[in-house]
Amino acid sequence: MDAGNTGTPTSMDITELILFQHHEQRRTFALLDEIPRDDTAALSAIWGRLEILLEVHAEAEEKFFYPRLLTVGHGASDADSVSEEIEDAIKDHNEIRDAVRKVAGHETGTDDWWQAVTEARVSNSDHMAEEERQDLADFRRHADLQTRHDIAVQFIAYENQHAKGIKPVDKDPEDYVAEHS
Ligand SMILES: [Fe+2]
Ligand SMILES: [Fe+2]
Repeated sequence: MDAGNTGTPTSMDITELILFQHHEQRRTFALLDEIPRDDTAALSAIWGRLEILLEVHAEAEEKFFYPRLLTVGHGASDADSVSEEIEDAIKDHNEIRDAVRKVAGHETGTDDWWQAVTEARVSNSDHMAEEERQDLADFRRHADLQTRHDIAVQFIAYENQHAKGIKPVDKDPEDYVAEHS
């Protein structure tokens, strides 16, 4: 019988982890569709959770994933270069933050609130699609498995340490790339 840890190294993969969390984000937006429009307690609980998921995920990418991608990447798919790929991602994160802030300016469940949630969903969907096609593809092709594992461990540890949320901070895309190059 297997007595537990046999010494076989387990592995995580940052590209799989990010892909999985994108699914969680899509699914949480989809959950909002299921809630009766007048159940503002449920809507604000789900939105509150989603707000944290979006921000902590974006910050973890900025802290652990993009800096390493900048050193190993070449620019994948329709990206011109790795720096363009990452500048674009930072710009998108700022746009998602703006859209999330706008939601907070409206009373939960009102038409304006739903409009703002839709804008956040559009920004996030566009960003995830591009990130999957460019940044994740680039990392899969150019980072070794140990690096993919190590970044995943740092990423998930950070997210769990900040499970209650963090203060969103916009970054200047060009400064970010210059600082991490
Ligand atoms: Fe992401
Ligand atoms: Fe991202």
